[in-house]
Amino acid sequence: MQKTILAIETSCDETAFSILRDGATLSHQVNSQADIHAEFGGVFPALAKREHDKNFAPLLALTLKDAFGIAPSALSATSASEQGEKSEDASPSNLDAEAIAAIESLLSREDDMARDLIAYLQSIPHEDFIRLKSDIDAIAVTFGPGLEPALWAGISGAKALATAFGLPLYPINHMEGHMASVLTSAGSSDASSPDANRGIADISFPAIALLISGGHTELISIASWHDYSLIGHTVDDAVGEAYDKVARLIGLPYPGGPRISKLADAWRKKDPRPESEFSLPRPMIHSKDYDFSFSGLKTACLYAVRDKQKAQHDEPLSDERKESLAAEFEQAVVDTLIRKTRRAIEGHGARTLIIGGGVIANQYIRESFAALCEEIGCGLLIPEKDLATDNATMIGLVAHMQILDGKAGLIPGSDEFASLRASGNLSL
Ligand code: KG4
Ligand code: ZN
Repeated sequence: MQKTILAIETSCDETAFSILRDGATLSHQVNSQADIHAEFGGVFPALAKREHDKNFAPLLALTLKDAFGIAPSALSATSASEQGEKSEDASPSNLDAEAIAAIESLLSREDDMARDLIAYLQSIPHEDFIRLKSDIDAIAVTFGPGLEPALWAGISGAKALATAFGLPLYPINHMEGHMASVLTSAGSSDASSPDANRGIADISFPAIALLISGGHTELISIASWHDYSLIGHTVDDAVGEAYDKVARLIGLPYPGGPRISKLADAWRKKDPRPESEFSLPRPMIHSKDYDFSFSGLKTACLYAVRDKQKAQHDEPLSDERKESLAAEFEQAVVDTLIRKTRRAIEGHGARTLIIGGGVIANQYIRESFAALCEEIGCGLLIPEKDLATDNATMIGLVAHMQILDGKAGLIPGSDEFASLRASGNLSL
């Protein structure tokens, strides 16, 4: 039996919706707030939540249009309360007064979202609304880890939708989503093709997962899917966070990862390449555990920049120096990630390395791990680049696997449903 899932992700600064049918992607929509947060040098949680609230209904509309061709009828663009009361109208209302009251109560802290979502749901032609209710089988939403205000936007919106459509709700761990991101290709043009998905059955266990994002740097040992143990993590900054902070140091906006990586790339491509003036530490590279530390590396960058500027009468770093610093920073990151991951693979006899998280969008890091896995004869699974950074397809994939495993979702109105909360520090 085919299962169709509407998945939602709002744990950081991306509002994302996806529709999956039997694990294949019917729609994949991501609205990034990066430009809005750029001037603050990082993600501001209250601002992120406000943006999620604002984007929720419009992005949902785009997703349902993309996947099912559902378009609001122009005639229905009246206010939410008018909509709820038009009971003796020719066309029946999608939401009755009770449903509207329930949604308004679930979204009592998301004023804009409540208004927009109710208006949008009411504007869907009634026969399309009925079709949606039967076409979609479940709603999935990230409930942690992440920024709690941002997570709440997705959770409240997901509860409202589950209530409106009468569907079970699957709360999903964001980090498990990053792991699952290796199992498919985003927005696959041929979504119905069974080849669009790599099944879990194709993965050779035991495996090691390296999760590298703006909030996490973790090594996980995987005996089989769902059987995870955390074997190492960062003791201070996450690797993506270090990229973002070093970028800020040299005057580049958030998110710093892609920008630093571009500078580093320009330096590596120089021919002839001048001798680098920077030599940065590789913190904890020789420690006998699987832990990481990136805060010292960031501080070393800070001192290196300060010293160079002092020597140049406070002139800002030249573009060439920025490139050379970025390349040395990136090399320090790669050396550390590779060394610890290699030890984890060898120490656990892993047959597959799975890498997930925004930082694996980085081409140099991808190539470095491909070379490692080739050298030591280990399978490598990494997501397509647009599935590396936050998205809802990966969240839907985890729900898809849970449904295959026979797991039940939370039923609207039940105690479990009511008590689902954002869990900022959720672990695997
Ligand atoms: O997984 P993600 O989208 O969000 C979190 O869950 O944190 O990861 C975002 C992080 C940011 O720190 C960003 O700078 C970093 O991933 N990132 C990169 C690249 N693209 C994104 N870091 C290095 N190189 C990249 N190309
Ligand atoms: Zn993430």
